[in-house]
Amino acid sequence: MEQVFEKLERCLESCRDRIPFVPKTALVLGSGLGDYAEHFPVEGEIPYREIEGFPVSTVQGHKGRFVFAHVGEVPVVMMQGRVHYYEGYPMTDVVLPIRLMRRMGAEILFLTNAAGGVNYDFQAGDFMMITDQISSFVPSPLIGPNSEKLGPRFPDMSRIYDRDLQEILRNTARELGIPLREGTYLQLTGPNFESPHEVKMCRILGADAVGMSTACEAVAANHMGMRICGISCISNLACGMTEQPLSHQEVQEAADRVAPLFRQLVTESIRNMCR
Ligand code: HPA
Repeated sequence: MEQVFEKLERCLESCRDRIPFVPKTALVLGSGLGDYAEHFPVEGEIPYREIEGFPVSTVQGHKGRFVFAHVGEVPVVMMQGRVHYYEGYPMTDVVLPIRLMRRMGAEILFLTNAAGGVNYDFQAGDFMMITDQISSFVPSPLIGPNSEKLGPRFPDMSRIYDRDLQEILRNTARELGIPLREGTYLQLTGPNFESPHEVKMCRILGADAVGMSTACEAVAANHMGMRICGISCISNLACGMTEQPLSHQEVQEAADRVAPLFRQLVTESIRNMCR
């Protein structure tokens, strides 16, 4: 197996000339924020397929590229289109884009996603700030030989989501008048949605939302010492909580409906984090 660090450095080398600035914040654009980058003057772009050895998303509607733009004064690298474990890539490749953004210089990681609401108090269209996560159902991206250049063998996970960033998200949402729920995100592999009893299991374990991404990215970023925050767009209530069957289209449409609010919340939060 090629060592993770060497592969990462090779990726960085193959795109170094196209990185226009040292990003402060790395932003992962989940469903609903797919066109986020188009609202800012783009200063640089690197399609994943042009980076040597890079995983390319196979999900329809997921673009695969890094976009560089200033959000207010903040230099941001955005991941437009993420790679999911269910696409068949090894976990180390799934988190490679996150690690690469860290190597580009990003200190803050802002994760977004669409997720199923597991908490009965939630409604489709809600936003949930992630305060903790359960990633035990997917392999850790840290399995394999550890590179001390990335981080320690046994990283602490007691505060994955940065307390100060959480406070900024809370205050920003309040200022904008956008209700912001809080809760624990649980990652399953997907690509199938959950059965009603799997959703019940998530609830019993203490999860408020369930999805197919994000937690593994936070593990890798935490390992590399990034300050992390995250927001889930609750695009639907999870299986078995309503009578309707779930579809990817429904998830996408619900996320698209609240996208303008989501965009506003993310933009103002990014600016407030770097004031
Ligand atoms: N389950 C898992 N992932 C999801 C869901 C869901 O209900 N909605 C959006 N992503």
